[in-house]
Amino acid sequence: MCGIVAFTGNKDAVPVLLGGLFRLEYRGYDSAGIALQNICAAPANTIPAGDLQAGRAQAAQTQPAHQPQPGGSQAVGHPPLHIIKRVGKVAELRKALEDAHLSGAFYTGIGHTRWATHGAPSEANAHPHCDCSQTIAVVHNGIIENYAQLRQELQGAGHRFVSQTDTEVVAHLIEQEYQVAPGKLMQAVRRTVARLSGSFALAICHSAHPGQLVVTRNDSPLALGTCPDGAIAASDTPALIEHTRQVYYLNDRDLAVLHQNGHIEFFDPAGTPSTPTAVTIEWDLEDAQRGGYADFMLKEISEQPRVIKDTLAGRLDASQGRLLFEELALSHQELAAADRVVIVACGTSYHAGLIGKDLIETWARLPVEVEVSSEFRYRNPLLTPQSLVIAISQSGETADTLEAVKLARRAGAHVIALTNVVGSRITMEANEVILIKAHLEIAVAATKSFLAQVALLTLLAMHLARQRGQACDKQVLDLYRHMQQLPIQISEILANTTSIERCAQECSHAQTALFIGRGVGATTCYEGALKLKEISYLHAEAFAAGEIKHGPIALINPDGLADPAAQTPVIAVACKSATYDKMLANIEEMLARGAKVIALATVGDARISELTPHVIFIPETPECLSPILASVPLQLFARFIAVARGANVDQPRNLAKSVTVE
Ligand code: F6R
Repeated sequence: MCGIVAFTGNKDAVPVLLGGLFRLEYRGYDSAGIALQNICAAPANTIPAGDLQAGRAQAAQTQPAHQPQPGGSQAVGHPPLHIIKRVGKVAELRKALEDAHLSGAFYTGIGHTRWATHGAPSEANAHPHCDCSQTIAVVHNGIIENYAQLRQELQGAGHRFVSQTDTEVVAHLIEQEYQVAPGKLMQAVRRTVARLSGSFALAICHSAHPGQLVVTRNDSPLALGTCPDGAIAASDTPALIEHTRQVYYLNDRDLAVLHQNGHIEFFDPAGTPSTPTAVTIEWDLEDAQRGGYADFMLKEISEQPRVIKDTLAGRLDASQGRLLFEELALSHQELAAADRVVIVACGTSYHAGLIGKDLIETWARLPVEVEVSSEFRYRNPLLTPQSLVIAISQSGETADTLEAVKLARRAGAHVIALTNVVGSRITMEANEVILIKAHLEIAVAATKSFLAQVALLTLLAMHLARQRGQACDKQVLDLYRHMQQLPIQISEILANTTSIERCAQECSHAQTALFIGRGVGATTCYEGALKLKEISYLHAEAFAAGEIKHGPIALINPDGLADPAAQTPVIAVACKSATYDKMLANIEEMLARGAKVIALATVGDARISELTPHVIFIPETPECLSPILASVPLQLFARFIAVARGANVDQPRNLAKSVTVE
């Protein structure tokens, strides 16, 4: 996940920028870079002139200057920016900086860690990105959704691009706007921002604006503040907290200009000066890395609205009623010829696959098998060159799933990997890769990556249906419209967790808990039970509700009829669905045998409250999207129980985040 640090002040910016980038390492990234202004406004004797000359000479070696475009904004009379980037760790960037002998004081700069989205991890794609004449440097978090169109326009106007990133368009757009009103950097950035769609946090420096940085954001975090030696901005608090505890958060598309003396000017999107209020950060550094959350699992659960937004970003071509999966090279004909889909995965990713099966079969009318990788790899599965294999792995390193992929490829099948980790081994083994947008997941229990997998599989299922002529524009647009509601609906669930916590408290002493549901509700239960057992160590099992009479109902403790303390908890996913009435009948069967039924129901459902006092309501959504919403309270339920039982939520016993051995 990308990280930004920007500093201007009366001390060397390099340690501040590198220190901040090191602090952001936990987020995961594949390359890092830095841009420094070769200017110092501190007392002139702090930088020997010889050092500056040496610095310039080195800068020419670290990155060759581009040919300025005709009419480019070459900052005449200003020393060029030093830009150094490296694939790999921040430590390698630090080494490159040392090797470049840029000693002296470089008082203003921007730094970045990149988690590749557009274009492979490489020096060319690492940030900062520049305009044609390398006078403007930009670092960016997020995704510029309309970058392709902007790039085409800018290329048409003579701008030359050197990376595959979406970010580079920002530098060229600023260059273009700056030419309209030379000397007005903030205005150029403001006009640029007005043309961008998508999510972004941006920090920008210009060689003709010594000691100044411009920052802005939309739908992507950025905090800034004045510190004793200047002003600093960063995408995450850990990079700021050593320097200031008084921070400002910008509203979407607002801008700020950071000055070397620590002064910060704020502007709204129209360019009118504004005066935001500073917020005091109370956390210590360790807390800050968890963003103030008690544990990473809670932080990651809370990030899910953003994950869904990121998953949807750039996937719809509304004019054509099409979903965009440009990563897939499979032709229309190849997709039409596919005879079946085989999904392989483990654990939570396997549960996402089960939901994918339901949706692909329903919409694309393609037969789908889902198999745990550890079984698939030791069978002799039926695969043909017409089989489409989807391998799902958050880490991209799960040994069994990797072997399943190799087996499928040997059998001639076409393998698509769904993973969260750029450059992971699965990305090298599969024919094609689709990255889910969960960003770094630290807690062992998968939460946000599950939602990202399910959301992506939902889009992919509709894409397959559309490609195979089984779905029309309207279905695509309707689905996308409903999915756009999900981030707000998840936020609503996260904003009121009282009933979830109360139900969890009631169950925290139980010996066992059962989960029941039907259709995609049953799959939601499999995942809910896995979450509960893995982090709280409370034994939990999930069943298709229609199956309980065939055995599992014997697990209900009949003493519960007389003694509420002896009641067996049964978590019933009973959202509005085609099988809702059947679920009510199953709930009654459980109650009649003394179970404590905790129902997950759609908001406004009065019938369910007549059956049980323990109801967790979730917002209304089509049945196909209900696993995305219903999983959130189940994650929180598991976490509340784990906390009540004193378990280590982030690092459950015996488990690892990526299972690289069989
Ligand atoms: C459960 C969990 C595991 C993983 C499984 C597969 O919360 O995280 O069940 O889902 O180990 O891991 P990936 O998706 O990395 O292949």
